Amino acid sequence: MIPLMKSAFLNELDTKDALVKFILKAKKLSMGEQVVAFEKEFAVFQGVKNATLVNSGGSANLAMLQALKNLGRLKDGDKIGFSALTWSTNVMPILQLGMQPVPIDCDQRTLNVMASNLKKRLNQTDLRAFFVTNALGFAGDLDVIRKVCNEAQIILIEDNCEALGTELPSGKTGNFGIMSSFSFFVAHHMSTVEGGMICTNDGEIDEMLRIVRANGWDRNLSAPKQHRWRKKYNINSEFEAKYTFYDLGYNIRPTEITGFLGRYQLKFLKENIAIRQRNYLLLESIVKDNPDLQTLDRSHISVLSNFAFPVLCKTPQLKCRYMKLFSNAGIETRPIIAGNIQRQPFYKKYILYSYELPDVDFVHDRGFYCGNYPELNKKDIKTLTDCLKRHEA
Ligand SMILES: Cc1ncc(COP(=O)(O)O)c(C=O)c1O
Repeated sequence: MIPLMKSAFLNELDTKDALVKFILKAKKLSMGEQVVAFEKEFAVFQGVKNATLVNSGGSANLAMLQALKNLGRLKDGDKIGFSALTWSTNVMPILQLGMQPVPIDCDQRTLNVMASNLKKRLNQTDLRAFFVTNALGFAGDLDVIRKVCNEAQIILIEDNCEALGTELPSGKTGNFGIMSSFSFFVAHHMSTVEGGMICTNDGEIDEMLRIVRANGWDRNLSAPKQHRWRKKYNINSEFEAKYTFYDLGYNIRPTEITGFLGRYQLKFLKENIAIRQRNYLLLESIVKDNPDLQTLDRSHISVLSNFAFPVLCKTPQLKCRYMKLFSNAGIETRPIIAGNIQRQPFYKKYILYSYELPDVDFVHDRGFYCGNYPELNKKDIKTLTDCLKRHEA
């Protein structure tokens, strides 16, 4: 059996052993110094000023939009563009926070929204923000997308939950917009079991994210920032300040266990990304020789931190045939993210208008994916390559 993921952690046994020792010694397990240290180390890895750790990638997405609303940069009813090939909790916060989701088609050749897709939608409607998803470790032409957004005064936010470590010549994915989310759920590039991060270079956003993360209070801000909030609202005693709630928030805090695991896993991340890329290139070389399958265009990507291996068949019939082959060989498969999000029940319940999304439909009807992770051994790779070779009906 080749499951979508074999283990919860990179260097699983070692990590579990270290975790047990950490828990036995730890004096405190609620959010504290491990969280702060992981945030600092992750910010260095990503090359950003600020990183805020939360309890999941979905929470990170929710917090990003809530922070923008609290700051008045987004308002009720604003139209928010999003990659139609995405995860549920990328879109749900747009609905939950009273804004209008506008799906943007992807390009089937890259699996991602390209600037041309965004421009097409902008010919039909204006947008206040674009919440792009960097799908499966690939990305669109984010440098051009950023330029389009800047010119049209659209706030660019990145869901980078599936593309930690991917690079374009112009920078790391996650660093093109004003902020970006990451997920550390098992099966992602690194795991803290559950966990997520938000990265930003914008100090005002970072401050608001820390308020949003913890009940709407100021406890996790620096002393000068706390002073500013308290002065603004005339809060004069520590007694009162501890239970003053300044803006809309949640409890989406991580624990010290999340922080510890994040720091421990971060050490293995670069090596993991390199193995994922190597596996991808090997499997891609087989796909290139199979006329039943479509090879993805990654020519604009300099480091491919592949999340999972997508198989795009030329027809829906071929998809059925190859999925059967994979299943018979014991390889677990699944749809590409959530497919065309417009076809999901939750979306249809709340949004009556639907857009034509030919390329996302193409991916939905002809695509599936299997796992790509460092624990794939030689035998697994052989099984995968055998299945990716051309098979007559
Ligand atoms: C693109 C994308 N965004 C957000 C998430 C949510 O992350 P989490 O499962 O940590 O909530 C996922 C989950 O896999 C995802 O693939």
